[in-house]
Amino acid sequence: MRIVELTLRNFRNYEHCRLFLHPGLNILVGRNAQGKTNFLESIHFLSTGRSHRTSNQYDLIRWDTTGFFLHALISKRNIQVELDFALSSDRRRELRVNGVVEKKLSALLGVLNSVLFTPEDLQLLKGPPALRRRFLDMEVSQVSPVYLYTLQQYNRALTQRNNLLKSFQGRNVNRVALETWNEQLVKYGARLTILRQRALTAMAKQAQPSLYAISLGEESLHLVYRPWGYQLELGTDEAEVGQVFREILEKQYHQELRRKQSLVGPHRDDFACLLNGVDVREFGSQGQQRSAVLALKMAELEFMREMTGDYPVLLLDDVLSELDSFRRQALLGLVDRGIQTLITGTEASLFTGWQDKSLLIAEITDGIISIVD
Ligand SMILES: Nc1ncnc2c1ncn2[C@@H]1O[C@H](COP(=O)(O)OP(=O)(O)OP(=O)(O)O)[C@@H](O)[C@H]1O
Ligand SMILES: [Mg+2]
Repeated sequence: MRIVELTLRNFRNYEHCRLFLHPGLNILVGRNAQGKTNFLESIHFLSTGRSHRTSNQYDLIRWDTTGFFLHALISKRNIQVELDFALSSDRRRELRVNGVVEKKLSALLGVLNSVLFTPEDLQLLKGPPALRRRFLDMEVSQVSPVYLYTLQQYNRALTQRNNLLKSFQGRNVNRVALETWNEQLVKYGARLTILRQRALTAMAKQAQPSLYAISLGEESLHLVYRPWGYQLELGTDEAEVGQVFREILEKQYHQELRRKQSLVGPHRDDFACLLNGVDVREFGSQGQQRSAVLALKMAELEFMREMTGDYPVLLLDDVLSELDSFRRQALLGLVDRGIQTLITGTEASLFTGWQDKSLLIAEITDGIISIVD
């Protein structure tokens, strides 16, 4: 999948910008604060319906204007899809896929698939488990409607169950209502656990070769799923997970009543990244951590291709600065496989050795993009 053309109007620091992208490598060079990340953000937004930097969509509207508009022409195998998104400060929003108005923002998912790497993604290794769960959820939901549905149902059951637990006063416990939500929690929770395990196993398989390539064969990466409650064996089926889930729920019954919240389930999942057998979070160098996250992103890319039959667009924001020249060169080898890639950097010299490929180099200055030839 690739973006043929992208238009931004009143998006962040762009007043109006229209760019025809190269099907392969697109290098965006510019000094700090010129709009490199903003440009990638617009693509990520069209891909997921949200920004990676703000939870407030209205922040994306160019200051002193009343709304932004994004348009993308996307080419997937042999079809072309047009995507239009407009948001105005009076809260009107319009999404069109091939000219047809879509009421739900979720209609975006799957239209333009992308994988984004930003320096903040290092938090994926260093930060709390919630970030890793979000990473999994976002990525897998983009390509698997079953996953998205299961996650939504699980979250719904979880919220309802938590509300119910909060409403209990002393001994006044509505066990029938609780049992109803237990059933839902277990049903979707067990399914989600299995789906996450599968997704992670697939990703681990894919991350390994990328890291091996980036580190020139010096490092090996393993992803270890740490599900809530107990060690999940590969091949455990949904019924079995459900049964264990139920048993743990029963054991936690009094504790949950006391704390007034659900204490077990996939909302407590985590996974770990092991580099050469040790946790990267604790022992990795800056460059190693960056390489490991990059390998995860490359895995995500392969995973999405497996699910959809097509590579997503790869967005690499400021990835090169902490990699030595060997790793930078190895990264070029990784992306140079017909994957449409947009990569940013502050200096053209970071891309030494890349210029002999067929590619597009653009310079960004104060929200204006000019092609360098
Ligand atoms: N809603 C907005 N309207 C207008 N300008 C904005 C808006 N939001 C952010 N900006 C401007 O965009 C600039 C940041 O752009 P961006 O984050 O894309 O920079 P960058 O080129 O990626 O820089 P760096 O190399 O430091 O990462 C900020 O300096 C800010 O002034
Ligand atoms: Mg930036």
